[in-house]
Amino acid sequence: MKLALAITGASGIGLANRFIELLPDTIELHVVTSKNSTIVSMCENKKIFFHDDNNIASSISSGSFGIDKTIILPCSMNTLAKIACGIADNLPTRIASVALKERKTLILAPREMPYSTIALENMHKLSLLGAIISPPVMAYYSDIKTLEDMENFLVGKWYDALGIEHNIYKRWGNHDK
Ligand SMILES: Cc1cc2nc3c(=O)[nH]c(=O)nc-3n(C[C@H](O)[C@H](O)[C@H](O)COP(=O)(O)O)c2cc1C
Repeated sequence: MKLALAITGASGIGLANRFIELLPDTIELHVVTSKNSTIVSMCENKKIFFHDDNNIASSISSGSFGIDKTIILPCSMNTLAKIACGIADNLPTRIASVALKERKTLILAPREMPYSTIALENMHKLSLLGAIISPPVMAYYSDIKTLEDMENFLVGKWYDALGIEHNIYKRWGNHDK
């Protein structure tokens, strides 16, 4: 699978780090971020290609490159609003618009609290257009005891939505063994 990951300026960039860290080596990952210094160090041994967020001529900017699935993690309200309006003035917003036009999987992990009505309207619109709105929402099952467990649970839920096999959180129904 060719997977595109855009990291935008919302709180929770650590979740993107964990997402990359736990990703199976078999996935070809394309990352666009303006804040890539924190994640570069953990990218050894993985099939990762970095893209400049201002490089609108990047390979992943074109539908013909064949990105299978795209996730914006975390997704700022700014990027969310641009995507909902069809604005594609940087690489994260461009790859989201490509995913929508190509009818490919697009997952958005909006991080804000509380949500404004504008943000909720934007999420509603994008959901109707086929995007999967998947914010980092805490869970209280799955034997979660630490922040790391909680982050693993969230990453596991995003992997589930992307169809990436994993065993990083305990699923409901496995507790009575
Ligand atoms: C410390 C800090 C934390 C922020 N956290 C969030 C956040 O959680 N969610 C959000 O939508 N914006 C947040 N912002 C504001 C965004 O960074 C800002 O709207 C920016 O324009 C987003 O740009 P981008 O969408 O191109 O990454 C934060 C800004 C700072 C400085």
